[in-house]
Amino acid sequence: MSKTFYIETFGCQMNAHDSEKVIGTLERQGYAQVQDEADAGLIVYNTCSIRDKAEQKVFHRLNEYKRMQGEGKRFAVIGCVAQQEGEKIFEKAPYVSLVAGSASYRNLPQMLDRLEAGERRITGLDDRQTDETFETEFTARTNPHRGYITIIEGCDKFCAYCVVPYTRGKERSRTSASVLAEARRIVDEGYTEIQVLGQNVNSYRDPSGRMSFAELLTALGQMNGIRRVRFTTSHPRDFTRDIVEAMDATPTLCDHIHLPVQSGSTAVLQAMQREYTREWYLERMSWIHGAKRDISITSDMIVGFPGETDADFEQTITLLGAVRYDSVFAFKFSPRPNTPAVAMEDSIAEEVKTERLRILNERQREIQREHYGRHLNQVLECMVEGTNPARGQVVGRSSQNKTVNFVMQPGQPAPAVGSYLPVRITRTLPNSLVGEAEAGPVFVPEQRQRSPLVVLQ
Ligand code: SAH
Ligand code: SF4
Ligand code: F3S
Repeated sequence: MSKTFYIETFGCQMNAHDSEKVIGTLERQGYAQVQDEADAGLIVYNTCSIRDKAEQKVFHRLNEYKRMQGEGKRFAVIGCVAQQEGEKIFEKAPYVSLVAGSASYRNLPQMLDRLEAGERRITGLDDRQTDETFETEFTARTNPHRGYITIIEGCDKFCAYCVVPYTRGKERSRTSASVLAEARRIVDEGYTEIQVLGQNVNSYRDPSGRMSFAELLTALGQMNGIRRVRFTTSHPRDFTRDIVEAMDATPTLCDHIHLPVQSGSTAVLQAMQREYTREWYLERMSWIHGAKRDISITSDMIVGFPGETDADFEQTITLLGAVRYDSVFAFKFSPRPNTPAVAMEDSIAEEVKTERLRILNERQREIQREHYGRHLNQVLECMVEGTNPARGQVVGRSSQNKTVNFVMQPGQPAPAVGSYLPVRITRTLPNSLVGEAEAGPVFVPEQRQRSPLVVLQ
């Protein structure tokens, strides 16, 4: 087997960052990454099973692998579908040699040795109950703008519809000292923006007992060289007021909170086992709305959960207006293996789910069209992510995580990727902002060269 690999990543940010760690580990073992699967000795597929569609994509892709059998290639399926389906994957796709869930990646070096020795049925599926996180100093940071740091892995919430507690195992946090040491390392590498990650990032509990989540955010925000700190995903149940206070007190903490509500109806939230009510959620919104800064709020929602009535759905629609989200990712309920909701009758007809999703998205679009208007004439600091030469525009990102397409002043040189500059907003759209660079100071950090990570949603 040639020591080259191709990796493809599906799913959430945690999975994308896991791939960065897997790439680092493979490179450490002497493998070289290639961008075309035809050139690869090892094909790695980091999978997602959050909804049925995501899982189907995996099996569709595995079928495509078939045509590459017999070319001396090895195949590895890792991530959430690997953990969920386990050895069944060998039956469905006999040409796969390695199946491993995220809790086993620590053992990748040994698994790779076995693969190289010719073993054809290697599994890493039994580590979800061990009390360790996957940390590696070999992380290949493929995102040129953001340095990701996992601070907590797994989930203990067991929402009735969700596979994550089964695929990623129990909740386990890293010590604040190890998080801060990793942050220091990547800031020294040249990153100015850090995003801390966890399925429920604010359920973080420092095993050394030294810092709360809000204190950890503050410490990261105060680190020399850091300009932006982001965190995803927060859970309403563990959302405490000191997080908003930390944001008010620390300018480097970005003006954005992703706080998925899932439903606006307390009855549905109870059936989902979300452990909070509509009122509880709205109280947290009032803290955020009351902050000194304009904090952007985004959410995930599920329509058509078993038993969701028209009145329940109406509560979700009214919640949109009460919160005024800047963006909502809405999904039709998808029954998932092993979860309690799979035993409930999937009682909402597909057409009803489709219609509810359409109504929700339409209402949210109206809200965004109006709510984005608040940015008109504001001057926002934007980090440059790239250019759109066809339109003569620079593509940047605001602290609130909004895309800002802007033009430079006449005679002003194109800014370097990763630099920060002030942009006056001249037009607002439902999903992005348009503006012109101001003459103010431009901050240019040291440049970094990385190849892009393939992430398919
Ligand atoms: N830990 C985060 C969410 C992680 S999963 C939280 O609790 O908020 C990302 C999103 O996928 C969820 O917020 C939910 O909206 C959606 N999701 C999860 N399971 C789903 C299912 N079975 N059907 C439809 N959407 C689902
Ligand atoms: Fe899934 Fe709920 Fe855990 Fe989020 S909190 S990952 S939705 S079980
Ligand atoms: Fe993420 Fe999908 Fe797994 S959303 S945790 S990769 S099921």
